[in-house]
Amino acid sequence: MLNKTMTEALNRQLNEELYSAYLYLSMSSYAGSIGLKGAANWFMVQYQEEMAHFMKFYTYINNQGEHVVLLPLAAPPSEFDSLLDMFEKTLKHEQHITSCINDLVDLALREKDHATSIFLQWFVTEQIEEEENDRDLIAKLKLIGDNGQGLLMLDNEMGTRVFVPPAQTGA
Ligand code: FEO
Repeated sequence: MLNKTMTEALNRQLNEELYSAYLYLSMSSYAGSIGLKGAANWFMVQYQEEMAHFMKFYTYINNQGEHVVLLPLAAPPSEFDSLLDMFEKTLKHEQHITSCINDLVDLALREKDHATSIFLQWFVTEQIEEEENDRDLIAKLKLIGDNGQGLLMLDNEMGTRVFVPPAQTGA
């Protein structure tokens, strides 16, 4: 059972996850348009991950006897200065999501909602990995600088990323 406060907060996060998917879909398209097909693949996998996060909230809310409320989505940026710019924006966005998840955990504890607290633990761990991936790529891109060959090698590496659906634990 979810109380009203918790349901509304989970619903807001569900919409944050949908916006994340929207943002990475935009980045995927932009990366492809400037010839970075590997980066386009990387962001498309990220889009799929965000849709999986969205579905985790969707399923959890429904399994707890409530229903989701889909909200209007803001338009994500559609132009970027460089791949480094895209990853700096990605890291900033993921830090925002981490903060949202932390606030949700705080709320679940305040509301004594232990089921939701357990459900959210998966996201707490996931955010560590998300931020680490972004920091790693930002560091590589800074090392590469203006070296086109280095960028193409990294782009090739990014082209190998594949989507692995997360386990439906807690959902
Ligand atoms: Fe759903 Fe990128 O956190």
